[in-house]
Amino acid sequence: MTASLIPTLPGHYYTDPAIFALEQARIFENMWFCAVRASDLPTPGTFRSVTVGRESILIVRGRDGGLRAFLNICRHRGARLCTTAAGEVKRAFQCPYHAWTYGLDGKLIAAPNLTKMPDIDRVEYGLVRVHLREWLGYAWVCLSDRPPSFEDEVMGAVTERLGALSAIDSYEIDTLQVGKRISYDVRANWKLIVENFMECYHCATIHPELTEVLPEFAGGYAAQYYVGHGAEFGADIKGFTVDGSEGLPKLPGVTDDQDRRYYAITIKPQVFINLVPDHIIWHRMYPVAEDRTIVECDWLYSTEVVASGRDVSRSVELFDRVNLQDFDACERCQPAMSSRAYANGGVLVPSEHHIGAFHEWVTTRLA
Ligand code: FES
Ligand code: FE
Repeated sequence: MTASLIPTLPGHYYTDPAIFALEQARIFENMWFCAVRASDLPTPGTFRSVTVGRESILIVRGRDGGLRAFLNICRHRGARLCTTAAGEVKRAFQCPYHAWTYGLDGKLIAAPNLTKMPDIDRVEYGLVRVHLREWLGYAWVCLSDRPPSFEDEVMGAVTERLGALSAIDSYEIDTLQVGKRISYDVRANWKLIVENFMECYHCATIHPELTEVLPEFAGGYAAQYYVGHGAEFGADIKGFTVDGSEGLPKLPGVTDDQDRRYYAITIKPQVFINLVPDHIIWHRMYPVAEDRTIVECDWLYSTEVVASGRDVSRSVELFDRVNLQDFDACERCQPAMSSRAYANGGVLVPSEHHIGAFHEWVTTRLA
């Protein structure tokens, strides 16, 4: 009878600070981490500081127009260089402690009495560089000395889901603009949020608006279950909006096959991408503690739509509701993870079996 049910991770994987620390070290500090939207750093000197694993990372646009990432730590005595989440400097970062000063390329350019210390190598004592790649309009960073292949791990996840990497090119995501951004402070372990995103067994129960737009979701099989499959809009649905009313003009590159369909992609460990014909919904997770995750969600539209000030609220409202419904469910599970009822975990029904592969992936990374 129970042959079709496979076990989940035990409850302590979601509550134990030691496991969370191991995840920070082995997963978030070793893999490519989607840190910022490149357009959030529009001009030289604009910067963001982002927590990746247990490190603070400074991402800045240089005078040459390129993005660079550094550990946000002064090389003198280790003070945190930038203490704000975002800001802008003219041409350099100056440490608030003893005023060591670094160029936008990370090089040490000035320090009190530096001329009296001629053998200081300004590169060696510059900021510590972190690997950075730009793709689909986001800056992805990796703290590992030898980062895994971006092509295999990040682009590969898209290929695995859509069947071909070129399928995502149609949406020209790097050219789109942020029409809306909402940050959710979710009181749940990051894995509960990934697992929730991966399955649609819950769709009929908690997502009335979404199943109205995507009737096949009511059947419980997530679009992610089948390679290349996008869930089709219902016959009387005009657009991917909270009430199924007309959306925006479809993005110019979207093919006929992709029109009126929704595709969801998970890029482990912290990105979810949702593709619909007229916009993209892009989630980035920032795990803060074993029981807390910040999820930043961007709604991306064409430049024309954002520039014209067209009303996007009905499309925003659909996924905002979906997010709140999902995060509410995750928050309901989190406290139960420490119950004796969940000491050995729960079970996955057949339509959730691919979550089992995620659990295996987690335990392998932590082993
Ligand atoms: Fe930054 Fe001393 S710690 S200048
Ligand atoms: Fe959901």
